[in-house]
Amino acid sequence: MTIDWDAEAAEKAGYEHFMLKEMYEQPKTVADTAGPRIKKNDIVIEELGMTDEEILQVKKIHIVACGSAYHAGVSGKYVLEGMARIPVEVDLASEFRYRDPILEDGAMVIVISQSGETADSLAALREAKKRGFKVLGIVNVVGSSIAREADNVMYTWAGPEIAVATTKAYSAQLIALYLLAMKFARVRHTVTEEEFSEMLGDLRRLPDQIELLLNNKNRIQRFANRYIAAKEVFFIGRGIDYAISMEGSLKLKEISYIHSEAYAAGELKHGTISLIEEGTLVAAVATQPALFQKTISNMVEVKARGAFVLAVTCEGNREIEKAADYVIYIPITNRFFTNSLAIIPLQLFSYYVAVGKGCDVDKPRNLAKSVTVE
Ligand code: G6P
Repeated sequence: MTIDWDAEAAEKAGYEHFMLKEMYEQPKTVADTAGPRIKKNDIVIEELGMTDEEILQVKKIHIVACGSAYHAGVSGKYVLEGMARIPVEVDLASEFRYRDPILEDGAMVIVISQSGETADSLAALREAKKRGFKVLGIVNVVGSSIAREADNVMYTWAGPEIAVATTKAYSAQLIALYLLAMKFARVRHTVTEEEFSEMLGDLRRLPDQIELLLNNKNRIQRFANRYIAAKEVFFIGRGIDYAISMEGSLKLKEISYIHSEAYAAGELKHGTISLIEEGTLVAAVATQPALFQKTISNMVEVKARGAFVLAVTCEGNREIEKAADYVIYIPITNRFFTNSLAIIPLQLFSYYVAVGKGCDVDKPRNLAKSVTVE
């Protein structure tokens, strides 16, 4: 089988690290993953292999994945449930495969994987198939094991990803999930035609908006340099912002070796807040209008205990400045798509902290790009 990835894509092309290059490829990745599936004013996902009738019959979606792909899945849960009103359960593949999961009639299983070779994800796929359920793979590597064994494959067109810490493949996974959610929402009439076409417009604008955020890298680098000696960092958010926090936190610990945790902001008070002391960095993500005030209260709580609060929010939310020490604004988009924008400064932050510490950014210790053993 011939795979049409060009050799140049696997070279650094003047960038200091693959990770930086791959972050810069995200506008293209997002456009490549969404573009071919936007036809006129509709979303067409032929690879889904499902008729509208079959989409209407889906009662529940199970998303199974590992690492960052799992975090994309958590984001996907909020988007699919919010937009298409379908219940979604997200599992870590290593849990799903051994917990004798309850899959009922009308369940649809989605396995997300960049490499398509992760042992736990592959085993979870086999488990679902053994029980007679069809599996949709959201996969980046063409012809990989998960792509071959899944009943249907929706490829993320991110091209080869070399850095161990994923950036562009994760961004592409988010887009694949938005497309699915929009498709399902339209078929199930849970969005109006007007809302649908507004979303299409927002989806089309994402690549340029990501570019804009990437161009802000110097400001983030300066900020990151102040945290090279940090011992631990917390990421907080609610809803989709919680999903972004999980990925932001994983990026930081993977490549900079700084201990980091992501917390659902409302859960902080049940224990974790005891770890906040003078100068602890707390990154708060607050992009969801309905949760904005709630997250601001959590920021005030940690600030009162000495935390330094970095906030990521949407343009116009100036009110946040009263509760934050440092603010990064992202452009306005549909509330379901904010993850694609808010993750960019968090990726850049992790990258520059790791570079500042002299870490091997592309090949962090103890980690592998593709975990093919259990
Ligand atoms: C490894 C990588 C992670 C990745 C995870 C899942 O742990 O270091 O970056 O998210 O595997 O990989 P997959 O290829 O299944 O998406």
